[in-house]
Amino acid sequence: MNILKSLLGAAAAVSLFAASAVAQTYPERNITMVVPFSAGGPTDTVARLVAEAMSKDLGQQILIENVGGAGGTLGAGRVANAEPDGYTLLLHHIGMATSATLYRKLAYDTLNAFEYVGLVTDVPMTIVARKDMEAADLKGLIDYAKANKDTVTVANAGIGAASHLCGMLFMSAIETPLVTVPYKGTGPAMTDLLGGQVDIMCDQTTNTTKQIQGGTIKAYAVTSAERLDVLKDVPTAVESGLAGFQVGIWHGIYAPKGTPAEATERLAKALQVALKDPNVAARFAELGTAPSSDADATPAALKAKLESEITRWKPVIEAAGQYAD
Ligand code: MLT
Repeated sequence: MNILKSLLGAAAAVSLFAASAVAQTYPERNITMVVPFSAGGPTDTVARLVAEAMSKDLGQQILIENVGGAGGTLGAGRVANAEPDGYTLLLHHIGMATSATLYRKLAYDTLNAFEYVGLVTDVPMTIVARKDMEAADLKGLIDYAKANKDTVTVANAGIGAASHLCGMLFMSAIETPLVTVPYKGTGPAMTDLLGGQVDIMCDQTTNTTKQIQGGTIKAYAVTSAERLDVLKDVPTAVESGLAGFQVGIWHGIYAPKGTPAEATERLAKALQVALKDPNVAARFAELGTAPSSDADATPAALKAKLESEITRWKPVIEAAGQYAD
């Protein structure tokens, strides 16, 4: 019995030593942050802002790797299968929750394949169209879409993307299916909207604010509860007649299951510092959003958010009857 006790004691001592070693030395080298959409889109914009500020606190570079495709699930799968050593992270958004229902054959088990770092920001969306769209307001856009439902095109970043979710909610609200055009991110989708190759998109303010302000695309509504300071002239979808049409795109940072808690806790502290960085707060404000609070930039808050959002969106997606496979 004494031998067993001493072996258990030694094992406990070794694991304590290993944990304290991680706590003291992590991170020792560059970290990869996977963005599951193309460069230049809203998710990429948020990631690069936060990664730069986190790098300062960590003393190591966080390098962005864009892994687009399948509405963000390819990039998420890449991280789910990465080495759980604290050097591969995922920055993803509400799509982590919606994909759990939309994809019945995901390459990972959403609630058991990741460790959590924290929530980053909650970004409003905008219903926008090519700049020469004839409709004068959201009601006119809806009338136009219904009258041309077989030809009007709606861009998104694939099933599971935020733009897909908002487009799905929009088509359900107007009871009219439209032609959807998927991209690997709404960065490239925006290029086609600017060029008039696609008609409508519901995308995050982190990608549309500057274009709307510059008049290169037309804004019809924001999906926030109140109008946005940076887009004061754009009515909310609710005030435009789409009752209950509110959706915010929350973003979180994840690591592969098994990543040491000392690493995720250290990353959460760096995230909290980054979200107080004046440049991050200023850029977020210019783009219509705001940093998460310290209380939300924690592993527990992100875990709770993901669990509650999977529960919230499951019946909505099932009612729309849209699945990826
Ligand atoms: C989305 O629609 O989920 C994002 O806007 C895609 C992206 O960040 O490119």
